[in-house]
Amino acid sequence: MTSLVVDNIGLLVTNIPELGEGPLGIVRDAALVIEGDRVAAIEQAGAAGDKRLDAGGRCVIPGFVDSHTHLVFAGDRADEFAARMSGRPYEAGGIRVTTEATRNASDAELRELTRRRRAEGLRAGITHIEIKSGYGLDIETERRLCEIAGEFTDDVTFMGGHLVPTEYEGRPNDYVELVCGEMLAACAPLAKWIDVFCERGAFDPEQSRAILEAGRRAGLGLRVHGNQLGPGPGVQLAVELGAASVDHCTYLEDGDIDALAGSDTVATFLPATDFSTRQPYPEARRAIDAGVNVAIATNTNPGSSNTTSMSFCIALAVRDMRMTMEEALAAGTLGGANALRRDDLGRLAPATRADAMILDSASYADLVYRPGVPLVAQTVVAGEVSP
Ligand code: NIG
Repeated sequence: MTSLVVDNIGLLVTNIPELGEGPLGIVRDAALVIEGDRVAAIEQAGAAGDKRLDAGGRCVIPGFVDSHTHLVFAGDRADEFAARMSGRPYEAGGIRVTTEATRNASDAELRELTRRRRAEGLRAGITHIEIKSGYGLDIETERRLCEIAGEFTDDVTFMGGHLVPTEYEGRPNDYVELVCGEMLAACAPLAKWIDVFCERGAFDPEQSRAILEAGRRAGLGLRVHGNQLGPGPGVQLAVELGAASVDHCTYLEDGDIDALAGSDTVATFLPATDFSTRQPYPEARRAIDAGVNVAIATNTNPGSSNTTSMSFCIALAVRDMRMTMEEALAAGTLGGANALRRDDLGRLAPATRADAMILDSASYADLVYRPGVPLVAQTVVAGEVSP
């Protein structure tokens, strides 16, 4: 098997405290030895290998793991964003605008749009991604979205429970029945996860529970959109059902934090969404201090978070959510892996997938200290150096 050595690393973040200094397990003057698609060893700089990539004394970190995206969609909602910047509030109903555009797009168009977004994220250091359906809201389009998502990741989430589509207006329970029945049957073979938007204006707790339990019966893992637009039942439901992650968590009450802290459910924060929708930022400090496992993700979508920049999300988490740089970096790498229940991602240690990036900087601190600057010099995905 051919080996690749990423050599001359000034500061290597492993995310494994036992391997180095501090919570990020930092190793200085290091070499990352890769065999095939896996990390083989962490050694001192100067290690031998078939191929050598010189990090030039810069910082190397695990690739970002983006555990929440809606990458497959057509159209944009720039006008809605502009109106919001002039004072109009965010409303979940905008999902229907994207649904119409997505239903009308061909597979080839959707595939090309998704490819471009995925390439953009990769250039920004996202080496693994979760992708949800949810802009089809009919059987055939949801199936197409899951199929296209599966061409880009093995973490595909079926989200027929994103919003009640126009043709089911006034009959939400009929739509829930469709999601739990025929739509799930068509999509479950193409997905690993099921997600539901448990929020006023989307699905109430009973409807959300029905969708999640049907997904579980079909063999899918559970994810929940909860507590995005106000306090609500999403977090508690996610914890009760043992969901891998509850995402947004913009409005956390004491009971939500207590429930999360005693659970395996990761609270995934999506700060670019709170930025773009002018919501308050989640109280991450309070959650972390209470012992909640957290992640940060981009939530790439045309309505509430049209960005593929995890660095931007990390900078917001430090600036506006009072996370330390180390917590935020871990949340965008290891946290994302935990939210997807992947122990092969988000860390650099023997046997993990060789997903890493060389930053154009001596320290990961520049992700926050130099916000908006493209700092990813080179990415390695599954042992392959990306162009
Ligand atoms: O995670 N909350 C629901 N879904 C997306 C928003 C989708 C949209 O506005 O198009 C989210 O923010």
